[in-house]
Amino acid sequence: MRLILLGPPGAGKGTQAHRLIVKYGIVQLSTGDMLRAAVAAKTEIGLKAKSVMDAGSLVSDDIVNAIIAERVDQPDCANGFILDGYPRTLQQADSTEAMLRSKGLKLDHVIEMRVDDDVLVHRVSGRYTCANCGAVYHDTDRKPRTEGVCDDCGHSNFKRRPDDNADVMRTRLRAYYKETSPLVGYYHCKGILSFIDGMKSIDEVTADLQAILEGAP
Ligand code: AP5
Ligand code: ZN
Repeated sequence: MRLILLGPPGAGKGTQAHRLIVKYGIVQLSTGDMLRAAVAAKTEIGLKAKSVMDAGSLVSDDIVNAIIAERVDQPDCANGFILDGYPRTLQQADSTEAMLRSKGLKLDHVIEMRVDDDVLVHRVSGRYTCANCGAVYHDTDRKPRTEGVCDDCGHSNFKRRPDDNADVMRTRLRAYYKETSPLVGYYHCKGILSFIDGMKSIDEVTADLQAILEGAP
């Protein structure tokens, strides 16, 4: 199964991808996570991307297209994957299509997650993640069952992102509506677009996603 989770920053793409990979035995390909790893490792790409990401703008298409094309060739992608945060421009969508076609593959689903802007800002401002396994938490809405201990892996090392503040979030939202939201029409025309109400609870959103992936009416 190959799918795209499409939605603005804070829509819950990473949260849901983390659940779906366990259920379906597929991998999560998050360009945001890959770029943050490159920044942390101070690679050439990381050095180029850091200031762009910190400002909330989009990294160049060439960089992210190359990262994804290389990643999709890894053996762990053979069962399928979730593209989380990619593609984000029409150029990236075209590149995805060409890349998959060249490998004889196709996308099964593109699912748009819809959430109101004020809720997105609230979610992102309170977000932190487990540095060990990537599980996503929130200061008020989704705390670990035991304070300071990750529910999923038991580690106690959490981190926050430098771009998760209200100012940078405004730029990220502008980039989403200008560059990424046209992908809704693009995939609608291809007949593979569904949408879900991302304002529902995390469990309800997971159930709605599973219903789409398992073809429930
Ligand atoms: P990226 O890392 O992709 O970030 P993003 O798209 O801004 O998305 P987020 O990770 O912020 O949100 P999410 O939808 O995953 O939400 P989450 O599940 O964490 O990109 C970062 C930067 O990298 C970009 O700005 C750009 O510079 C660069 N970049 C990346 N990809 C690129 C590309 N393809 N092209 C160019 N540049 C690129 O949830 C958020 C919070 O809400 C959490 O606290 C969670 O617990 C909570 N939450 C989730 N769901 C719910 C719910 N249903 N109810 C209540 N709370 C919820
Ligand atoms: Zn963890």
